[in-house]
Amino acid sequence: MDRTRLSRRPGVRSAGDRVVNNIDMQVNLGGILMKNPVAVASGTFGYGCEYAGLVDVSRLGAVTVKGVRLQPWPGNPLPRHVEVPGGMVNAIGLQGPGVDGLIRDYLPFLHRADVPVIVNVWGTSEEEYAEVAARLDGVPGVAGVELNVSCPNVKEGGHAFGTDPHTVAALVAAVRRRTRLPLIPKLAPNVPAIAVFARAAEEAGADALSLINTIPAMVIDIETRRPVLANTVGGLSGPAIHPVAVKLVWEASRAVRIPILAMGGISGPEQAIEFMIAGAAAVAVGTANFIDPTTPLRVIAGIEAYCARHGLTSARALTGSVRI
Ligand SMILES: Cc1cc2nc3c(=O)[nH]c(=O)nc-3n(C[C@H](O)[C@H](O)[C@H](O)COP(=O)(O)O)c2cc1C
Repeated sequence: MDRTRLSRRPGVRSAGDRVVNNIDMQVNLGGILMKNPVAVASGTFGYGCEYAGLVDVSRLGAVTVKGVRLQPWPGNPLPRHVEVPGGMVNAIGLQGPGVDGLIRDYLPFLHRADVPVIVNVWGTSEEEYAEVAARLDGVPGVAGVELNVSCPNVKEGGHAFGTDPHTVAALVAAVRRRTRLPLIPKLAPNVPAIAVFARAAEEAGADALSLINTIPAMVIDIETRRPVLANTVGGLSGPAIHPVAVKLVWEASRAVRIPILAMGGISGPEQAIEFMIAGAAAVAVGTANFIDPTTPLRVIAGIEAYCARHGLTSARALTGSVRI
């Protein structure tokens, strides 16, 4: 076997990397081979390179980069984030370099780091989503596309796609026609029945599901009586949303056969393990990266230690092991 060539493919490592301390940590997220089940969530880890001096990016299971559309996008005016008890509310508004800028200026670093890259994609039309995904197809290092149909912070797109299951299905099908990359729709948390959306996405050709995105929220300065964020409303993330996310992941996982990438309020191994027990195949650390960028590495070690303590030989054995 030519190990040099294999090691250039995202997610494929030598046996020594896959099996850590006798626990098999590898997971397959809808065709994306991850050396361990721990990714970083879109918008909370930049494009990877920003964290290079702080974290060995190559040890992550996957890196999900900040959302891109076709053209560069400035995002919302400042202020665009505020801390709240148990989390933060942001309305960054999907600032980004556009897909060609991402490919040219940022993806080479992650390709060299030999980590599977999931690109978070948004747009204002089906065609835009599909065109962005098509441009990513075959780009070295890109392992999958996360379709952001759930961002509450941009008027032009995102959330409008995620609140109707037919729209989600049509979008997934349209993107599916333009790319061979694994497709991971990122579902909106604030819908009446997540199972309906999960099934619609699966039937339309999704390879995995990602949930949850931030929850629509608002913070008012009581002295000025004005909203704190320039955008008036934003999205709540962090520990406050974790139990909400666990319920949605559990419900979605019971509705579909495709794997789930779970996120929402992970600040250590416990929440990641809880997500996997609820039904997630893999997890992503988000807001916690702003507090301690080494959190994902701590989560990896914690999952491994938990498996060893509970006599599990693989992290995969955790998935869906909830006892009800
Ligand atoms: C500052 C910030 C920026 C984000 N940007 C994006 C984005 O571009 N695309 C997206 O799909 N989700 C984005 N998210 C949502 C996260 O990826 C994640 O789904 C959410 O924050 C829940 O996880 P957490 O509680 O661990 O942060 C962003 C979140 C934060 C806090």
